[in-house]
Amino acid sequence: MKILFVSSEVAPFAKSGGLGDVSSALPRALAAAGHDVRIVMPFYPRVRAPGRHISLVRQHVEMRIGPHRVVFSIFETKLPGTDIPVSLIHCPGLYDRPGLYGYKHDEHLRFTVLNWAALKVAQFAQFAPDIAHVNDWQASLIPLLIKTHFAWDRLFARTKSVLTLHNIGHQGTFGAGVLVDTGLADSAHLFHQDELRAGRLGFLMTGLLHADHVTTVSPTYAKEIQTREQGVGLDGVLRARRGSLTGILNGIDEDEWNPTKDVHLPMAFSSSDLSGKETCKRALMGALRLPYAENVPVIGLVSRLVWQKGLDLVVNVMPHLLRAAKFQFVILGKGEPRYEEFFRTLARAFPNKVHFDSAFNEAKAHLIEAGADMFLMPSRYEPCGLNQMYSLRYGTVPIVHKTGGLADTVWPFDEKSGHGTGFVFEHFDDHGLHWAVRRALSVWGTGMGAHRERWRALQRNGMDLPFGWRHRVGRYVEVYERLHRG
Ligand code: ADP
Ligand code: GLC
Repeated sequence: MKILFVSSEVAPFAKSGGLGDVSSALPRALAAAGHDVRIVMPFYPRVRAPGRHISLVRQHVEMRIGPHRVVFSIFETKLPGTDIPVSLIHCPGLYDRPGLYGYKHDEHLRFTVLNWAALKVAQFAQFAPDIAHVNDWQASLIPLLIKTHFAWDRLFARTKSVLTLHNIGHQGTFGAGVLVDTGLADSAHLFHQDELRAGRLGFLMTGLLHADHVTTVSPTYAKEIQTREQGVGLDGVLRARRGSLTGILNGIDEDEWNPTKDVHLPMAFSSSDLSGKETCKRALMGALRLPYAENVPVIGLVSRLVWQKGLDLVVNVMPHLLRAAKFQFVILGKGEPRYEEFFRTLARAFPNKVHFDSAFNEAKAHLIEAGADMFLMPSRYEPCGLNQMYSLRYGTVPIVHKTGGLADTVWPFDEKSGHGTGFVFEHFDDHGLHWAVRRALSVWGTGMGAHRERWRALQRNGMDLPFGWRHRVGRYVEVYERLHRG
């Protein structure tokens, strides 16, 4: 099948979180399964990197979008290590900014242009997509554009659209006044009417109304978002679409996240030989200038530092635990100032136990995954979450809140049977997190002798689970094929 895949971020070109990982690994898996994939994304300045070959394909494309005359160019590169073309929309006025997102005054325009331009790219390339696979609100106008502005073009006559929701906490909702800026004012009746009347226009909402199929990134999240409590205002529409809503667990990129061949690690390891993991722990502690002890567990946390990630529990619980128990805590993350400030203060208060780095650092993320003994992910909600799967693969036992994809990927460890892969708390409160960390530390025990053996068994339970994309991609292909069977 021909698949036009549109995303606002694609690793390694641009990534703020898991969307970037998925938008790289899923197309790779689809291509490996024999499909013809073309990716479209914005040309942010960070896409240019030494040694990356990027060529100009078409200069000075002009588009009328509502009252705007937009001029952009199309560049092309390949997804590294593949033949998958990546079309880059070059429009400096919109994308030459330090960050990927968050430019309030014209955010809707930045991504409106991406949506229109993606379909222009298909036209220029004479790429007739069987599937337009669009991700999150930033690409959510495409299903409607295909039915309206681009409907005249027979190139799209067969195109079915699939919208993947990675996080309904971000809906791209603006004042109804942006309608003209989307270039779809003549299709006003096709937007959510109650929303427009209430003075709002949601990009994600519009995508939910018009995509031929909707997927989200774990089966549990697919259920959660249909409830009033967790639907963030979209639950009604999602319930109405439940017949065409599928939860498909994300996979992990086994080339990128694989302890047997990870280029960021000083030594490889696997479930059958974990000795390299100890070398990674020693290297991690050395790099962070923290004292290293084999029998003192290190808890890692790599995350966007935002409300979603349940950091309020960390704020309430970890200072107390750090005073009372023997472990170290390593945090890598950027985000809200209040959390950054908390971790900075924590590191000052426990200089031998805590390290905090407020940076986005891919290599360091890998070293923490490999060198830590446990991984903390107490998210309030988590559509899928990738870090807990990376952790499992790296023998780094996850401590998680039972929600969304975390509930689908981490099974509570049971000492009697020896089954389970991590520590899971059900109630999102201080007590829950406190209990789970305490449990993990108690199973770790002295970290020696029989305790060590028990820990090794727990690590191994998670390391070889079939979390790779090659085990998942078939679910997407089923969705695509079902759409074409009608
Ligand atoms: P989300 O997409 O909600 O941020 P995921 O767990 O799906 O959560 O994906 C997060 C991805 O972003 C992982 O690949 C993780 O390693 C990466 N990441 C998050 N923060 C950082 C950081 N500060 N440095 C490096 N990688 C990070
Ligand atoms: C979102 C979610 C995360 C998910 C990622 C990739 O950012 O917060 O849970 O893993 O998208 O689908």
